[in-house]
Amino acid sequence: MMSHHSPLSGKVAIVTASTDGIGLAAAEALGQRGAHVVVSSRRQTNVDKAVSLLRSKNIQVTGTTCNVGNAEDREKLINMTVEQCGGVDILVSNAAVNPFFGNILDSTEDVWDKILGVNVKSSFLLTKLVVPYMEKRGGGCVVFVSSVAGYQPMQGLGPYSVSKTALLGLTRALAPDLAQSNIRVNCVAPGIIKTRFSSALWESESMTEEVLKQTSIKRLGKPEEIGGVIAFLCSDDASYITGETITVTGGINCRL
Ligand SMILES: NC(=O)c1ccc[n+]([C@@H]2O[C@H](COP(=O)([O-])OP(=O)(O)OC[C@H]3O[C@@H](n4cnc5c(N)ncnc54)[C@H](OP(=O)(O)O)[C@@H]3O)[C@@H](O)[C@H]2O)c1
Repeated sequence: MMSHHSPLSGKVAIVTASTDGIGLAAAEALGQRGAHVVVSSRRQTNVDKAVSLLRSKNIQVTGTTCNVGNAEDREKLINMTVEQCGGVDILVSNAAVNPFFGNILDSTEDVWDKILGVNVKSSFLLTKLVVPYMEKRGGGCVVFVSSVAGYQPMQGLGPYSVSKTALLGLTRALAPDLAQSNIRVNCVAPGIIKTRFSSALWESESMTEEVLKQTSIKRLGKPEEIGGVIAFLCSDDASYITGETITVTGGINCRL
């Protein structure tokens, strides 16, 4: 039974890279709304920690390792979910890497292969794997995690920023086709959120000051402030939203 407090009750939600930061917050937000969440990341110890944390909050959760850049891991994640949870309704593709900082002209082919492979290609390939299962359930929701850097490339983070712009395109490319299967495809573009991934931007006071100059709300974002928006996009409250990217940046200017 759907209730006001458990709008996602009966739904199965896969969130990638969900043992820390924004992914973990998204898993928690979906779980709090009644979904059974499947958490994963590269390291088993991180998976175990996330599973016990979520269980301690009375969230229904299953965990497994999955490096999204690896085809076998992606298949294992989806197959395990279907076997153990009976299907898939929600995919939050949140994993990203950034192995390069510097002048874009110094970035190598390997850097581009890695960044586009993990951040963009795996998001598409995971979507392709879950679509048949969502169709079996009569529909579903996909959410990609882009970045403010997808709108305005960040200095030193050229290839990463381009990968995040590509996710805005992927969202819009998939939405019309998948609408026919009652699958909505949306995207969130976070600003600067306090996680390990962004630590270079907040560990020094002068860096934080620089970042905050551009934000209207004079503080960094918290992972749960992204998790809540992701859960909203996966709920019936967002039933008429598809192909959209929501920026959640504390007011940093975002336009392409
Ligand atoms: N923090 C920000 O300011 C910010 C801003 C805009 C966008 N974002 C985006 O938000 C997403 C999450 O970032 P975050 O800040 O939440 O990072 P985070 O707190 O550092 O967490 C990263 C998570 O990703 C997992 N992970 C890393 N590589 C993976 C891979 N190849 N396959 C599967 N899991 C992997 C990590 O676990 P393991 O080490 O166990 O794999 C960990 O659970 C990324 O897409 C990032 O680009 C972040």
